[in-house]
Amino acid sequence: METSASEGVPYVVPPGGETVDPVSDDADSAYGDVESETASLTSSIMAGRFENGRRYHAYQDGLYMFPDDEQEQDRLDIKYASLQLVLSDTVTFAPLEDPQQILDIGTGTGIWAIDAGEKFPGATVTATDLSPIQPTWVPPNVRFEIDDAEQNWTWPPNHFDLVHMRTMTGCIRDWDSLYAQAFRHTKPGGYIELQEMDYMGVIQPTSRNPGTSFVTWCVEQGHAGQKAGINLRTSISFMTSSLEKAGFVDCKVLEFKLPIGPWPKQQRLRNAGLLQLSAMLEGIEGLSLRLYTYYAGWSLDELKVLLAKVRTELRDPGCHAYWPVIVVYARKPEGTKATS
Ligand SMILES: C[S@@+](CC[C@H](N)C(=O)[O-])C[C@H]1O[C@@H](n2cnc3c(N)ncnc32)[C@H](O)[C@@H]1O
Repeated sequence: METSASEGVPYVVPPGGETVDPVSDDADSAYGDVESETASLTSSIMAGRFENGRRYHAYQDGLYMFPDDEQEQDRLDIKYASLQLVLSDTVTFAPLEDPQQILDIGTGTGIWAIDAGEKFPGATVTATDLSPIQPTWVPPNVRFEIDDAEQNWTWPPNHFDLVHMRTMTGCIRDWDSLYAQAFRHTKPGGYIELQEMDYMGVIQPTSRNPGTSFVTWCVEQGHAGQKAGINLRTSISFMTSSLEKAGFVDCKVLEFKLPIGPWPKQQRLRNAGLLQLSAMLEGIEGLSLRLYTYYAGWSLDELKVLLAKVRTELRDPGCHAYWPVIVVYARKPEGTKATS
């Protein structure tokens, strides 16, 4: 420990690090207001920002494409229920043995984290999001943090038995850097698991309705995403090659179809489709508003016309649309300990 010459106050020089620029002495005199400044920052994050009558998170620098208001929270929870039917209620496919630390990135309403906390009572589940929309009453081993996953992670390296992300496609600017951080903070022998949906929905060949407006919506949504600097597409090769680049090994891939509408014969898929249809009818406007009107320059009226056509198509029992769902899990090799 070194000592500051002027005041004899001990301070630690970070190894090889640069000092952080301090505010000027004038601003420093306002230091007594730190509590009110924190309170005002917290309240602005809690309040969010509004656009087109919808609320978005107000986390500084965080991307905001999709709202976080109650309507969107309902969509997330209904979508979760529909996915769980397709995934046979599996919380994680990674072969975990007595996990101690689990991380859920972009937890949304925290529903997966709560399920994981109940499934693994011996583990601490840390779940993060840009939006403070998680419930207060949760299992004692689940805790939520407001955090931007694209900033530097402050947890210890080699810490998590599982790093989990579900439906984060369209939210992340730099996947390589995110996976590199996930690798660093996963325990050797621990896992990363991605449960993703490709935003390019599919009309399967049995469909009696060509789903033209739905396909147009997916394509235009993708173009708007590109303008916003994000990719709304995902694929097995993208996911596995990105994980391998970060250092993960033994990628295991599972593929599912999440129907939109109760058109499948099998009861479980039919129920999943019914829920997903409801999530889409409820949520398609929230998914589109910012991307279409802000990034792609559509007028609100143009968007509303397209959305009305998409809703009509998806309600048609002859429209056999589904989302491709891809689950990939991979392991951090034993013996690859990151140094701090
Ligand atoms: C589509 S939702 C998925 C929520 C949840 N994983 C689920 O499957 O229900 C994406 C979530 O990721 C959050 N998110 C987006 N970018 C993020 C970031 N950089 N760091 C942390 N959370 C982020 C959003 O606020 C949103 O709640």
